[in-house]
Amino acid sequence: MQESLLHQLTETQRQLELLHDQLTESQRLATIGTICAVIAHEFNNLLTPIVSYSQFALQSAQGEKPDMVLICKALTKSFQSSQKAGRICASMLSLARGESSYAAVPVQTLVDETLTVLARDPQKDGIALRVQIPPELAVYGDSVQLEQVLLNLLINARQAMLGKGGSLTIKASAVDENLVKIQVIDSGPGIPEKLLPKIFQPFFTTKATARQTEAHGTGLGLAICKDIVEHHSGRIEVESEVGRGTTFSVILPAAKPAATAS
Ligand SMILES: Nc1ncnc2c1ncn2[C@@H]1O[C@H](COP(=O)(O)OP(=O)(O)O)[C@@H](O)[C@H]1O
Ligand SMILES: [Mg+2]
Repeated sequence: MQESLLHQLTETQRQLELLHDQLTESQRLATIGTICAVIAHEFNNLLTPIVSYSQFALQSAQGEKPDMVLICKALTKSFQSSQKAGRICASMLSLARGESSYAAVPVQTLVDETLTVLARDPQKDGIALRVQIPPELAVYGDSVQLEQVLLNLLINARQAMLGKGGSLTIKASAVDENLVKIQVIDSGPGIPEKLLPKIFQPFFTTKATARQTEAHGTGLGLAICKDIVEHHSGRIEVESEVGRGTTFSVILPAAKPAATAS
């Protein structure tokens, strides 16, 4: 009796281990699937300005009076974005492998670089941009990955205010000796309270649209942000009020001031 029970127990244990292995394997495959979608999503963010700048240059080159200054400017932008796309691809793959290259990154540089990638001047969409960053503030992290975080937050803010305009503020401050807070504040439509717990989930989007030409959401932007920030031992928070706007706060480890040589 006892022996058969023991036998059953061992058998159940074996099946449990098998199921566990299968679960690990499907989780691994799901992760690879997500990483592919993430890289495609991030790449698309960069490809958009590359395509429009090249188109701009081509149009001028094929026109009656090619404007060399404009062509050079457009090609330079397109070239810079392509290089950045390459760097971002490498960085996303490192993130997937769990490798990152950490260093002190001035928040001002981070924001400037991200605004360059954003390409389209927010003012053209009726968005007033304000940047308030103490010049000495620096975080400790992977600059390429942190730019991704800001880029995704800025793209979301811009999309939220598209067609209506509004204000977009990028603010940063020291929380204490060890932490820095970077905020992206928009005056868009806000997020209903019942959706707040879902927005960081991969593939959650309210931007699904039937029209192919319109940018529709993948629901990966905030999931990427959360993943990157947590890899940095930081956190990302959201506060939103319907009709008033949304604030995303990213809290990251501060870069320790360089030890002064004695
Ligand atoms: N600044 C914002 N204002 C209003 N809603 C937002 C904002 N940022 C994110 N959201 C909401 O969170 C959802 C998920 O965002 P995200 O993960 O970036 O995916 P996507 O932008 O592809 O939809 C969006 O579809 C939108 O509903
Ligand atoms: Mg998004």
